[in-house]
Amino acid sequence: MEHCRGGDGKAGITTDDVIGECKLFYFAGMETTSVLLNWTMVVLSMHPEWQDRAREEVLRVFGSGGTPDYDGLSRLRIVTMVLYEVLRLYTTLPALQQQTNKPVELSGVRYPAGVMLVLPLLCIHHDRDVWGPDASEFRPERFADGIAKASGDVDVPAFFPFGWGPRTCVGQNFPRCSRPRWGSP
Ligand code: HEM
Repeated sequence: MEHCRGGDGKAGITTDDVIGECKLFYFAGMETTSVLLNWTMVVLSMHPEWQDRAREEVLRVFGSGGTPDYDGLSRLRIVTMVLYEVLRLYTTLPALQQQTNKPVELSGVRYPAGVMLVLPLLCIHHDRDVWGPDASEFRPERFADGIAKASGDVDVPAFFPFGWGPRTCVGQNFPRCSRPRWGSP
């Protein structure tokens, strides 16, 4: 098997590893982003008032003939609120699975190695105790002051469409227009 070599000449990751990483980036990045954009189109066609607000913002930030740039993307407040609300309501990955590889204790519960833990993202994103009685409605304004305020300042994370912790999505800043400057997500 052919190996990639670092500056010191020692073997690093293999060519097969690099190919595997490329495939992972392709599959992890393509389908998720495409589902998000599709739902955004559907939802904006159902809520033309938000479509108008988003369009007005894009034209204001970039101008009618302007080319979008990375800096401008992080100033799209309305668009980001819309994308967050779509990610909440139509969570791209409805559940995450993590398997323990050694005995662990989580919130006072001991789990042996080999236990499959399932995090039902879609259920958490629709939980009325967290999001309020309008949890199933499209209301991007709930994200106007950032994610913590939107989810009622609950102690545990309640919005994680990109996962959480060390295995969190490495591409999350790409679809969500970089880390916004206006909020505190
Ligand atoms: C709306 C778009 C996206 C969503 C909702 C999304 C969501 C996620 C989620 C939930 C995970 C699993 C985290 C975990 O296991 O805890 C993940 C992992 C990952 N995502 Fe994304 N993702 C998106 C876009 C992208 C893009 C654009 C890329 C690459 C350009 C990407 C690359 C990856 C990779 C490489 C992983 C694996 C990280 C690891 O296991 O260390 N994702 N993503």
